[in-house]
Amino acid sequence: MPHMSPRPLRPVLASLLAAAFAAAPAGAAGLQPTGQFSVPAAAYVATPPMGWNPWNAFRTEVTEAKILAVADTLKQSGLADAGYRYVDIDDGWWLRRRADGRIEVRTSMFPSAAMADGQTSLRPLVDRLHALDLKAGLYTDIGRNACSQAWDAHSPNLPVGSVAEREIGSLEFQEQDMRLFFGEWNIDLLKVDACGLADFGPAKAAVKAGQFRALAPLMVRAHPERSDEGKVEGLYASLAKAIATVRPLGDYVLSICTWGEASVADWGRRQGNAWRTSADISATWASMLRNFDSAEQRALYAGPGHWNDPDMLEIGNGEFDAAHLTQARAHLSLWAMLSAPLILGADLTRMPQELIDIARNADVVAVDQDPAGNQAITLMRDGDTQVLAKTLAEPGAVAVALVNRGERPAGVSLPLARLRLGAQAGVTVRDLWTHQSRALAGDAIAMTLAPHETALLLVKGQAAPAQYLDRMPASVNVAEDGRAALGRTLPAGWVPARVDAAPSGAALTVGGKRHQDGIGVLDNSRLEVRLDQPYSRFLATAGVLDESRAAARRHAISYRVYGDGKLLLEKRSAAPVQLNVPVAGVRILELVAADSQKAAGPVALAWADARLEH
Ligand code: GAL
Repeated sequence: MPHMSPRPLRPVLASLLAAAFAAAPAGAAGLQPTGQFSVPAAAYVATPPMGWNPWNAFRTEVTEAKILAVADTLKQSGLADAGYRYVDIDDGWWLRRRADGRIEVRTSMFPSAAMADGQTSLRPLVDRLHALDLKAGLYTDIGRNACSQAWDAHSPNLPVGSVAEREIGSLEFQEQDMRLFFGEWNIDLLKVDACGLADFGPAKAAVKAGQFRALAPLMVRAHPERSDEGKVEGLYASLAKAIATVRPLGDYVLSICTWGEASVADWGRRQGNAWRTSADISATWASMLRNFDSAEQRALYAGPGHWNDPDMLEIGNGEFDAAHLTQARAHLSLWAMLSAPLILGADLTRMPQELIDIARNADVVAVDQDPAGNQAITLMRDGDTQVLAKTLAEPGAVAVALVNRGERPAGVSLPLARLRLGAQAGVTVRDLWTHQSRALAGDAIAMTLAPHETALLLVKGQAAPAQYLDRMPASVNVAEDGRAALGRTLPAGWVPARVDAAPSGAALTVGGKRHQDGIGVLDNSRLEVRLDQPYSRFLATAGVLDESRAAARRHAISYRVYGDGKLLLEKRSAAPVQLNVPVAGVRILELVAADSQKAAGPVALAWADARLEH
């Protein structure tokens, strides 16, 4: 498998900057080639952020003493050395917004914030964290009010004062707040929640009672069609811009927390470094799987600088405590395969050593932090078993997870051929939990897994002569996803572009033939593919998926392949077409599927068996 280390990130920043806050491309204009890999979000969080957040353990009872005790534990336990360095403060830290707009800190919880001149400042705490070689994260809301005000009404730590004083969210205060947080207080990460846009509508009892100013919801949970995605994205875009004016680019994390709502998973990468793909995790096996699944379909949206976020780790809590080590290992394995942010959420000062050891397993953390930034893709799913593969930066290296989601022991067998390595001879397999080699079962990797067990394996072989696009998702950018041309939200469960499946989730079947590998997209879409290696040819079968033939009404689709902005090939056809395009010297390949006619519904296509040959 070719070497896939990403290009150095800082040099590409300048070219990304211009696009960083531009409006999303829409419709036909978005089909024009750019000759660039234009993931417009800041691209400097080169690997997923790692650290700790107090919410799952303490909710709004988040005191400075607890935070410093955890910070100390991160240092003493070796977790900080393993990479867990962001120490976040979540909801509950604020007291009120003053008449001059400045937010006051609740000094009863953060005594070091009380300044001699009567001001409050989190700077002393941030400085202490920095002195420990840790990083500091803070929390705000994109609306006027925060989630605790909607959902933790009995918390003793809610903002106080008049309606206006209790508006501690960033709406209408973006520039002032970002100057305070990133300038004066010097924080490194900001998690930006969104209850302010969802939970303070005029019909809300607390709003009717005059406790909060009404804000017509821009987001309605589980109803993307009733959410104003454009406005929500716009607010995050202006917040990102406000941060960028305070902080030199390159050293902060913007974590978007709209719980997968307002189609954030489709646009989050344009505005932030990580975006939540689901509702809050809880410490149960079922919740962990639900959150895993919310990100698992979205490999094409993640890569260096922009990560799907299935929420914090529950290791140490509930069904992932010391009585559930198998589940704790599985949880970390799955998050590592997703290239998810690894944000621990238990009270680390009370975390048993076995669980600390799980969290700091350097081999597993290295899978999460692999510099290629490829999110794993699912190679097989059979009942409760699932096999995931993640292409690593080292040529010929793949991380493989064999997963038993179910309650009974289960056998799993992965034919080596599915890994698309260069040759089957000489393949080695190392178990990243037992740290032992594993023998192959003939030409397969086979294991029996205990209930809820995940085996995480490092497989090494020869790099293959062809690189399949589905195996290099961090090098593919969904530049135009086709939703704008559709003019309405997609059916529930659809993903505009996915690996090895149709946007609907069905198999990639074109002209009666099922393809295991490929990329499923909507029509009127454009993919940008970054070629980090010299390749000679691009090959694929492009065609309307069989499930969309009725909607497409036998329209001719125009399939276009561009190299560095120049048209290399165009084929117009209602039937599937074979593509074989020379790409020597090309750095950015663009794949456009354009359909100017009105379709009866969403039309899905495949770039099946899309691959680059050396
Ligand atoms: C939720 C968020 C949680 C936590 C909480 C604070 O919306 O998803 O992670 O931040 O708000 O109130």
